[in-house]
Amino acid sequence: MDEKTVATLTQKALAARSNAYAPYSRFLVGAALITEDGQVFSGCNVENAAYPEGVCAEAGAISAMIAAGGSRKIATIMVAGKGPAPCLPCGGCRQKIREFATQRTCVLVVDENGTELFKDDLHALLPHSFGPENLETGSDQNPA
Ligand code: THU
Repeated sequence: MDEKTVATLTQKALAARSNAYAPYSRFLVGAALITEDGQVFSGCNVENAAYPEGVCAEAGAISAMIAAGGSRKIATIMVAGKGPAPCLPCGGCRQKIREFATQRTCVLVVDENGTELFKDDLHALLPHSFGPENLETGSDQNPA
């Protein structure tokens, strides 16, 4: 991935992070992704007084990608959290990314200053995963 793309994703992820709504955890997260056709979408975490109803930054970025109606293939997704520990996508978000991933989808994590803390393929974060292809064998029927 070229430096310009990393710089764009960093800028978008940090901008989204600055708008995050996280009054309960006080843990601001931004995410930005680039599709295989070069479109960039971002999202931030949006918490809720009913705690389990909060949504992660990655989910917001994926929603924006789908709503835009273009490519649904994620080339790279970046998450911007607070260091020093990398804000790695949670298990649920790994699965959400997986739905729109390719063999090459890359996950980057930066800190609140845009310093890179982590970079690897989604496959390394979610090996032996279940995806849309697993449903292609057709539907079963319960025995009568
Ligand atoms: N969070 C994200 O938005 N993305 C991640 O990758 C990890 C966690 C959010 C959820 C919650 O609003 C806050 O961070 C603390 O868990």
